[in-house]
Amino acid sequence: MIRSVVRGIGSALPRRIMKNTDFEGVVETSDEWIVQRTGIRQRHIAADDETTASLGEAAARAALDNAGLTPADLDLIVLATSTPNNTFPATAVDIQQRLGMRHGFAFDMQAVCSGFVYAVTAADLYLRGGQAKRVLVIGSETFSRILDWNDRSTCVLFGDGAGAIVMEAGEGAGTIADRGVLAASLRSDGTHKEKLYVDGGPSTTGTVGHLRMEGREVFKHAVGMITDVIEATYAQAGITSADLDWFVPHQANKRIIDASARKLGIAEEKVVVTVDRHGNTSAASVPLALAVAVADGRIKKGDLVLLEAMGGGFTWGAVLLRW
Ligand SMILES: CC(C)(COP(=O)(O)OP(=O)(O)OC[C@H]1O[C@@H](n2cnc3c(N)ncnc32)[C@H](O)[C@@H]1OP(=O)(O)O)[C@@H](O)C(=O)NCCC(=O)NCCS
Repeated sequence: MIRSVVRGIGSALPRRIMKNTDFEGVVETSDEWIVQRTGIRQRHIAADDETTASLGEAAARAALDNAGLTPADLDLIVLATSTPNNTFPATAVDIQQRLGMRHGFAFDMQAVCSGFVYAVTAADLYLRGGQAKRVLVIGSETFSRILDWNDRSTCVLFGDGAGAIVMEAGEGAGTIADRGVLAASLRSDGTHKEKLYVDGGPSTTGTVGHLRMEGREVFKHAVGMITDVIEATYAQAGITSADLDWFVPHQANKRIIDASARKLGIAEEKVVVTVDRHGNTSAASVPLALAVAVADGRIKKGDLVLLEAMGGGFTWGAVLLRW
């Protein structure tokens, strides 16, 4: 059977690092409060010349280099983002142009923080359905542009960045020993839309709007939703937490990551954590964390890796793959 195998990975971060102490004089907060409640110590913030498209392009080029491929080898680009350069055209098409690619097709996918998990799942279906042989999947965000910098309960939580992988159709035996995507589960429930949303849009206010969140409400639902969708993914593949080599969760909050891992019985040393240095980069958080763990040698070819995310909507999901 066809399996969607990861061939390369890359990432890109804005030049500027904003530490917790840099919020002094911006809002009333402290390094201690932010670290204790979230685990975040710093985040990268895009300059005017750094956009979702430019960061996405840089991550894409790094992933292609890592795979030993060029844009000519791609059939499809899927960009997960909630902070596109323009309302339209899709920023994926902008990145396609920046890469000098005039064949194939490209589109954006909007599932907020779950965007990358949704995009990998979609790419897997295009590959297994024979519509593409190689897909570039990118998560790129500039959340700093939609933050209310007067709202201390949200502006300290997010950062900017991009991560990308190249996925390729390969032959598998149909067992969980195969490399590639082995199982995936996606969910959404719009009854929670007011807990985490942006208060503007083309069809309502005609403005971009700012991020609004009931943090405590999001927190309350997060662990249960994450663990449910992971258990559904385990059931599809017939595995348990003990079989995993690495857990790469969405990087929103260290307390949510710890509580989810504890509930699932995933050992602490198998959990990849980058929220301390990146903050919550929404759809970019999972590929950025993956890129860190691949670059430092933790994730190796053949390892069983679980990706998970949860975000506005709510949307949530998990992907199990063998690297
Ligand atoms: C946002 C979050 C860190 C807040 O932590 P919390 O323990 O729930 O804190 P609360 O919202 O109950 O606020 C506690 C107090 O801290 C204050 N506070 C909020 N932000 C603050 C900040 N940056 N610095 C200092 N104090 C702050 C609040 O005003 C509140 O004060 P009050 O008690 O006088 O009203 C936490 O709810 C969270 O992480 N939620 C999940 C958010 C998330 O991950 N979203 C993304 C999902 S994709």
